[in-house]
Amino acid sequence: MSRHHQHDVLVIGSGGAGLSLALNLPEHLRVAVLSKGELAGGSTYWAQGGVAAVLDDSDNIESHVHDTLVAGAGLCHEDAVRFTVEHSREAIQWLIEQGVPFTRDDDHHEGEPGFAFHLTREGGHSHRRIIHAADATGTAIFNTLLARARQRPNIELLEQRVAVDLITERKLGGSGNRCLGAYVLNRASGEVDTFAARFVVLATGGAAKVYLYTSNPDGTCGDGIAMAWRAGCRVGNLEFNQFHPTCLYHPQAKNFLITEALRGEGGLLRLPNGERFMDRFDARAELAPRDIVARAIDHEMKRLGIDCVYLDISHRPAEFIKSHFPTVYERCLGYGIDITVQPIPVVPAAHYTCGGVVVDSRGHTDVNGLYAIGETSFTGLHGANRLASNSLLECFVYARAAASDILDQLEQVAMPPALPSWDASQVTDSDEDVIIAHNWDELRRFMWDYVGIVRTSKRLQRAQHRVRLLLAEIDEFYSNYRVSRDLIELRNLALVADLMIRSAMLRRESRGLHYTLDYPGLLPEATDTILLPAGYSAA
Ligand code: FUM
Repeated sequence: MSRHHQHDVLVIGSGGAGLSLALNLPEHLRVAVLSKGELAGGSTYWAQGGVAAVLDDSDNIESHVHDTLVAGAGLCHEDAVRFTVEHSREAIQWLIEQGVPFTRDDDHHEGEPGFAFHLTREGGHSHRRIIHAADATGTAIFNTLLARARQRPNIELLEQRVAVDLITERKLGGSGNRCLGAYVLNRASGEVDTFAARFVVLATGGAAKVYLYTSNPDGTCGDGIAMAWRAGCRVGNLEFNQFHPTCLYHPQAKNFLITEALRGEGGLLRLPNGERFMDRFDARAELAPRDIVARAIDHEMKRLGIDCVYLDISHRPAEFIKSHFPTVYERCLGYGIDITVQPIPVVPAAHYTCGGVVVDSRGHTDVNGLYAIGETSFTGLHGANRLASNSLLECFVYARAAASDILDQLEQVAMPPALPSWDASQVTDSDEDVIIAHNWDELRRFMWDYVGIVRTSKRLQRAQHRVRLLLAEIDEFYSNYRVSRDLIELRNLALVADLMIRSAMLRRESRGLHYTLDYPGLLPEATDTILLPAGYSAA
């Protein structure tokens, strides 16, 4: 039997953004936080580097703003950048108050002036401004926030709940433009339940899983972006997919990132013969922004026909390496690579979705009562290339802004009326799940080959042709068979792939992460790529 639930706020996604939003709401509100697998399944848990923020007296807001704008290649919205950076200190203070065990600065003594925590450096930053918990910052933040959420009786944490689609007034045939809740597959019962809520927040992360090789955990399928699009929201700048330059290259290693902080602390990129190459591409060498480093590695791999390049930190003292990078050290050692004496084989892999659901500075989407935060959203902060460690910062700043907006709206918004149950009367159990597995694989492979680090118009056309065939097949499958997590994810991923390809085809220049051989130059004016869903009309 499918069930009906009612909450004041429904948060879809249990990563750093979703948990922060829930914790920033007052205790008299009933809040549900949904996770489609285990609560720790999101990207936050895996983040190594840290959170960029202006924390040290030698640093300043103008410098962080400037670095973000430079990395973003002319496409950042300066108001969003300022808003985020200006709120960075208070967001970090909130995390410290929650109890996040950030790494302390060994040189700072209790009672002395100055900042007590260690700040590391990453590419594109002109200051040390990344606060971190060794090289497992995401795990430390996630565990702390989850423990806090578990102490709050008003927050219900629900695992194995896969959101299928949003319920809106428009979809129910009404003339209003409000989000009323969501249909959610309960993987334990196999039923699709109905969640009614006064406010719905999409915090489902990005869509890097659309690529064959990615640093992300398995669930990053663009669910929130796809659901928002189907609900009538605009999406922006989806052609900008960030490839992290350094993921471990090893036959047994799946999705393991080698944090950029390793380059921040002196790590050098080398060819198989030991030669350094980054200075041939950019004066900032290993500390150039990610788009430049990833493209340089891709170029050298193709030029020399090699499978990987090497990241070498072995010139730093072994104790320093082990204490700053314990996760990377242990993991590599497990694969037989001792990073204190050996270079690490690395390749670029899809890492971050810079575009997403168009929102304002409080996380509002185009649908009333629907918010998007974190990697799901497009705030304008990242422009054409995200600056390292600005992503977690964006999660916390916008989660707090959206929570405060919900509070401001509370009085005016009532619980939705009774919502119809999910209709499963026309579907049967699938006897051909092989199609889902095959389509998953095909989609991720052609996205990697045709919509990757270096693009051409012809490759994009090929990708578009293929994704349209897949979409038709998936649609048919969706109409005839009972939903499963794999089917829901594939449906979302294929839709987001289509939106990414459409966005890439519209951009007739090379800017930041979007590089095409057919338009290698930069247009004089930087403009966003905004896609409008069918029937969209500005409110
Ligand atoms: O390299 C890293 O640790 C990743 C940081 C980020 O994506 O911001």
